[in-house]
Order: sequence, then structure tokens, then C-alpha cells
Amino acid sequence: MPYKIRTLSGYLHEYQKSVLDPEEFWARIAESFHWKKSWDKVVEWNFSEPNIKWFVNARLNITENIFERNLFTLGDRPAIIWEPNDPEETNRILTYRQLFEKVCGFANTLKNLGVKKGDRVIIYMPMVPETAIAMLACARIGAVHSVVFAGFSAQSLADRIIDCEAGIILTSDGNFRGSKIIDTKSVVDKALEQCSSVNTVVVLKRTNTEVNMQEGRDIWWHDAIKGVSTENIAEEMDAEEMLFILYTSGSTGKPKGVVHSSGGYMVYTYYTFMNVFQYNQGDVFWCTADVGWITGHSYIVYGPLLAGATTLMFEGVPTYPDPGRFWAIVDKYKINQFYTAPTAIRALMAFGNEPVEPYSLESLRVIGTVGEPINEEAWHWYHDFIGKNNCPIVDTWWQTETGGILISPIAGVTPTKPAYATLPLPGIQLAILDDDGNELRGKSVEGNLCIKYPWPGIIRTLYGDHERCRQTYFDKFKGYYFTGDGVRRDEEGYYRIMGRVDDVINVSGHRFGTAEIESAINEHPRVVESAVVGYPHKIKGQGIYAFAICDLSGQSSEILKNEIKQTVNKVIGPIAKPDKIQIVSGLPKTRSGKIMRRILRKVAEGDGTDFGDTSTLLNPEVVEEIIKGKE
Ligand code: WTA
Repeated sequence: MPYKIRTLSGYLHEYQKSVLDPEEFWARIAESFHWKKSWDKVVEWNFSEPNIKWFVNARLNITENIFERNLFTLGDRPAIIWEPNDPEETNRILTYRQLFEKVCGFANTLKNLGVKKGDRVIIYMPMVPETAIAMLACARIGAVHSVVFAGFSAQSLADRIIDCEAGIILTSDGNFRGSKIIDTKSVVDKALEQCSSVNTVVVLKRTNTEVNMQEGRDIWWHDAIKGVSTENIAEEMDAEEMLFILYTSGSTGKPKGVVHSSGGYMVYTYYTFMNVFQYNQGDVFWCTADVGWITGHSYIVYGPLLAGATTLMFEGVPTYPDPGRFWAIVDKYKINQFYTAPTAIRALMAFGNEPVEPYSLESLRVIGTVGEPINEEAWHWYHDFIGKNNCPIVDTWWQTETGGILISPIAGVTPTKPAYATLPLPGIQLAILDDDGNELRGKSVEGNLCIKYPWPGIIRTLYGDHERCRQTYFDKFKGYYFTGDGVRRDEEGYYRIMGRVDDVINVSGHRFGTAEIESAINEHPRVVESAVVGYPHKIKGQGIYAFAICDLSGQSSEILKNEIKQTVNKVIGPIAKPDKIQIVSGLPKTRSGKIMRRILRKVAEGDGTDFGDTSTLLNPEVVEEIIKGKE
């Protein structure tokens, strides 16, 4: 077991060591894993290509480090506790031994279906243990999983399948979400109309929804695993071989496939899980994210299971059957660490204290947040009312690209401060740069959040487009990884994340590029041009405000707005639907034809007075009109 930080001076000491000799620091942590062959060098890197390799030439399999390494001591301990959408349905508990058997069985099933090392496997599934089993089975045989959030549309799913050229999809007949049933399989069928690479679809029976099974292509999960051996020898992987691809949105173009590698991701998720949450053996950990996002990958599946932890997986939503559901689950399983998103806290806070009152919540020791900035009001409610003034809040800042948490308090060690992610974890060398690329040293500064030295969980490439990876993260500030976030460092050296500085909107903790939403809106035949900006939203953090130039002839604007929302729903999914749409006759543009989003943002935020310098505007008259017609 690597050194677990227990005191503030311990943190400071570890941090210093990690900067003075990063190789020695990470080697010591990595040594607690089972490697089939050790590394020749701890790290080899440059940020110009970029070329980043951790644990060079080492060999391993991440699932051996979850199972074979832990089984002897933890075999009968619950690995996954699954709580269904409907509280009346029976829950499921899988011990490490049982989970191992299922992973091996499904690994063999995938092999029988022709999946080989390096092949991409799309997972479009509900929050059920089989989803984690599928991910781990891929990792077991060296196949590359790409989980797609099951709320994405057929078009978004198709884009991802095509980008990574997947040959197989794992899905379910349907998906329970609160009182709704989502017709998952028919979304897959629709997506596959445009994907020729897929020849196998494995369908898990979950909702008993009637589905159309295509002969020769579709097979039921329960049939596929029937009679398959549960003995499996893990595939040996190079530390840098791909573990998974996860698509995320950027400021331009289509979602990009972030690639994580086996060795570095393993070391990093484990280290951050153990330290940030101060997990002790026997605790029950619950992260409420969906496995379709990076938070679910790192802190429902890989981090906790590598640590031999008990991880709770919840299928449903926070408000079903009532807004006390989260707290009922905390009491039912005596959750010790609870990790959720500010948007969920704000949504539950809106129901008042009553839904929380029946529950004791006394098992809680650490409570965490992730995905977006947390406002002070929500922080205090969470701290005082859920944590009973007795649990440190870990406000964890990180990204799909970082693999694991980079800035966060260490629970019970780092003094917290509302709305601050506080301090970098050991190994993370932050830099704040002004727009010209000068590093702002000292305290009380604000600028672009960058990182100057790699950590094991850092993105390696974008699938199939290394050049886009370079341009997106390593080009704007030479020699640094650029996060796309703005940050402030206060007099105490504490970090507060200020939100995105690029054209990315964070809606309820989900990332969308404005360009991505605009292109979805533009698919409506009556839309001529559109521009999308974020605006402050009480529950979602940011809402989506769309300005659209439309051909209204003979059409009511209300009907058209509704149709536009449906178009976005169809192209991306319900989570990207604009909250407000304003139909305009023009968009403010510079003489070179660029949309001045700064002005639109001001209008959307409700500030119709100070637009700064508008002298470069080609069409100042539209600004007046836009302010008047504000939604
Ligand atoms: C934002 C989620 C403020 C940030 C793990 C980042 C946060 C983006 C925080 C990544 C936080 C994440 N405080 N903002 N604690 N955590 N963000 O890739 O803008 O879905 O760049 O990863 O979420 O979102 P992603």
C-alpha cells in the first residue's frame, strides 16, 4: 500500500517530493501493483508532439490488479452493490469472487464472438452491473471499450461508432430512468442504419421491452454467455496500450475520442481514489455519476475496484420515486463516502429540507462534488445539511482528459473553503497563464489553467487524430497542457475554478461545444444560421441560449422553437436541448464575419448595457433588436 496522506504536513511533504523527483514518486506508488514486467523508465515525455509514456515497456493487465491481486484477501467482500431504479425491486450484491467469475465468463464470450485485442467495443447500456462487467471483460482481453452515455441520440451514437470503427455493440432492450422506460435497442437499430462496421449486437434483457432482433447480427446476452467457461487468463498489455476511448465535446467540431492507456490510468485512479476520499477497507463508497462519463469510469469502476473497495452503483435518478431517494440509499447501505454533482445538489436543495429529514445520514464521512463549479449556497447546504457540519467536502476538479482528479482537498487533511477546489494533488504542477502565455507567479492572480508536467492519467491522444490532440491541448501555450478552464489563485494559494474560457458550455455537469449544438440546430430546414451561448441557470449551472435566424414564412415562432428543440433532441439527445431560443433577423458579426459571442453572452446573461468595444461590428443595429427580443 503506497503512502496514504493523513496530515497536512504529510501532504506538503508528498507534494514536494512529487515535484523534486516525479519519477521516484510515481515509481513508489506503481510498485504496489502487480506488473508482469517492470518498466525500463518511469516517464518519457514532451508536450510538443505530444508524446507521453508512463512506465515505459512495463507489462500488465488492469483486471489482474483488480481481481487476482485482491482475491486472496478480499474474495468474499462486496465489490459492487447495485441499487435498482425501482426501490421495490431486489438489489444485487456481487463479491469480488463473483464479479471475477462474471468478468472472465464475459471475456470468453467476447472472444467467442470474435473480439480480439485492440478491437473497439461500444457499450450503450443502463447502470447495471453488466455494464461494469462488460468494461472489465474488454480490459481483460485487451479490447478497447468506448462507453456511450445511454441518453445520447442515435445520431450521436452513430458518430461515435463510425469514429472508432467498432465492430460490436453491447446494449439492452431498454433502460429504466425514474418513471420512464427508454427504448435503448431501437436507438441502436437506428444508429446502425448508417454504420457498416458493426456485425454483432449483444442485447441484455433489462426492461422486457419488445425488441426487434436482427437475425445473424443480434444476440441476447443470456444466450451469448450460456455454457461459456469462466476460466480466463488475462491478456498481457503494454503499459501504454489503449484501455479505453471516451468521447467528449470540445469547442469545435464533433466530439473527440479521448484515449487512456492501461498502466498510467491504473496507477492514477487508484492513487487519487485512496487519497482524496480517504477510503478505508470495509467502507461503502458511492459515486452517483453514470458510467457513460469519465467520473463513472474512474470512480465507480476502476479506482474503487483497484482499491478493493465496495462501490455502489445506482440505476435510477435522484428524484424517483421521491426527492429523498439519495438519502434513503445512503442510510440503507451506510454509505461512507458520497460523491455527486453540484447540479444534483441544487436540484435536491430546491425541494427544501423535508425530503432529507427522515434520514440520519450518520454513516457519511466524506462528501464530494465534481463536474462544474459549486456555488456557495449549494456548498453550505451540502456541508451543513447533508454532511451535518461533520464531513469535509471534496470539491474535485478534473476532466475526461485528465483521467482522474487533479485539484481537490484531501478529505479531512486539506482545510476546505466554499467554492474552492483548494490545492493540487501530489504530482500535479499547475501554472496560471495570461492570454499571452506568461506564467503568472505569486498569489491573487487569475488566468488560464495549465499544467506543466505530465501525470500518469493524462490523455495520450485523440483516437485517430493525434494532430487534433496537439492543437486542442498543447498548442495554445507551448510546453503546457491547457485545460480550457479559467482559474483564480487567492492569497492563501488556494485554487478556484472560474469555468470554461473556450466555447464549451457546462450544462448540469455535461460538456457541450457551442458549435456542436449549433450544427444540430442548423439541421432544422428553416434555420438559416444560429449561435449558442451559455447563461447562468439556477439548477443546471449553465443553461443553453440559442439565437437563430429562421425562415418564418407562414409558421408560428412558438411551433418553430419547439421543432428546433426536437431537432437537437434527435441529433444529440435531450440533455442538449436549448433552454431558450430567440429568433433574430441577424447575428452581431465582425467585419471578418465572425460572430461576436461576447455580445450574445451579455444579452443572454441579462446584461443589456455594457458591451465593451463594439466598433468592429459590421451590423450594430442587430444588437438593439436582439436586446429588445430577449427571451
Ligand atoms: C468542469 C468531469 C469547477 C471544468 C470530471 C472541466 C469543474 C470540465 C469541476 C470537465 C469542479 C469539473 N469545479 N469546474 N470541481 N470539475 N469541472 O470532461 O470546466 O465531463 O474542464 O469531466 O468540467 O468536464 P468532464
